[in-house]
Amino acid sequence: MVYAALLLGALVAAPAFGQTFRRTAACPQLGCVFPPDQTDFIAGQTFDLRIEVQAPANGSEAYNNGQVDENFSIKIGGQGAELVDAAQFFGLSDPEAEKYNFTYYEDLFAEDAHAPTPVNVIAKSYRNLQLHTPGTYEVVLTYNNGETTKATWTVADLAEKKKAKNVIFFVGDGMAGSMLSAARLLGHKTINGKYQSKLKLDEAPGYGSQMTHS
Ligand SMILES: *[C@@H]1O[C@H](CO)[C@@H](O)[C@H](O)[C@H]1NC(C)=O
Ligand SMILES: *[C@@H]1O[C@H](CO)[C@@H](O)[C@H](O)[C@H]1NC(C)=O
Ligand SMILES: *[C@@H]1O[C@H](CO)[C@@H](O)[C@H](O)[C@H]1NC(C)=O
Repeated sequence: MVYAALLLGALVAAPAFGQTFRRTAACPQLGCVFPPDQTDFIAGQTFDLRIEVQAPANGSEAYNNGQVDENFSIKIGGQGAELVDAAQFFGLSDPEAEKYNFTYYEDLFAEDAHAPTPVNVIAKSYRNLQLHTPGTYEVVLTYNNGETTKATWTVADLAEKKKAKNVIFFVGDGMAGSMLSAARLLGHKTINGKYQSKLKLDEAPGYGSQMTHS
C-alpha cells in the first residue's frame, strides 16, 4: 500500500507527464534534501544544507491531513562510514525547525477546477557548511515513520584538477549564425529546446555582440 502510494507519487511527479506541475523542483518525494542528489562540490566550498518535510493536505500525495511529521532526522557520512546526525557531523548546534506553507496545482485538471493543493512544510537550515575531505558523502533524511530521501554528494579536490599541457587555437571559418546553431544543437544536450551547456565561444564574455554579423 505504501509502495503503491509512493509509486503513484513518483509517476505523478515525473516530468514525462506534461500536464502535471511540480510540487517543488528537485524534490519528487515528500522529504527534500538541498543540495539534492548528484551535487558536486569542491573541497572547502561553503554551502547551506536545507531539509524539508512536506505534507500535502489533499491530492494524490496527501499525507496525514496535511499535518507535517515533526519527528524527522538528517544524517550524513563519508562513503562507508557510519552516518551521524548532521548537526553533530558539522559540529553545530541543532538549528530550530521552521514552518511554512504554500499551495500549488497538481495538474491542469486541478487548475481548471480551481482546486489547489495546500502543502504544509517543516524545515531546517544548516548554514555555512564545508566538506574538506574529498570523496563521496551519503545524506539520508528519515521522516514519516521510516520514509527516506537520500542524496549522494561528491567532493572533488581542487588540487587534483589537471593542468592544461597544450592549448589549441582555432581560427574558425563557417561560423555563420545558422552553423553555430547547428553546432549547438548537435554538440550539446537540449531539453525542451534549451541548451544544457554552452559552446566554449558562448562562454566568452562579450561574444554575443559579434554573433549577429559573423
Ligand atoms: C521518531 O523517528 C524514529 C526513526 O525515524 C523512531 O525510531 C522513533 O520512534 C520516532 N519517535 C516518535 C516519538 O515517533
Ligand atoms: C500558512 O502560513 C501562514 C503564515 O505564513 C499562516 O498564517 C497560516 O495559518 C498557515 N496555514 C496553515 C494551514 O498552516
Ligand atoms: C484541497 O482542499 C482545499 C480546501 O482546503 C480545496 O479548496 C481544494 O479544492 C482541495 N484541492 C483538491 C485537489 O482536492
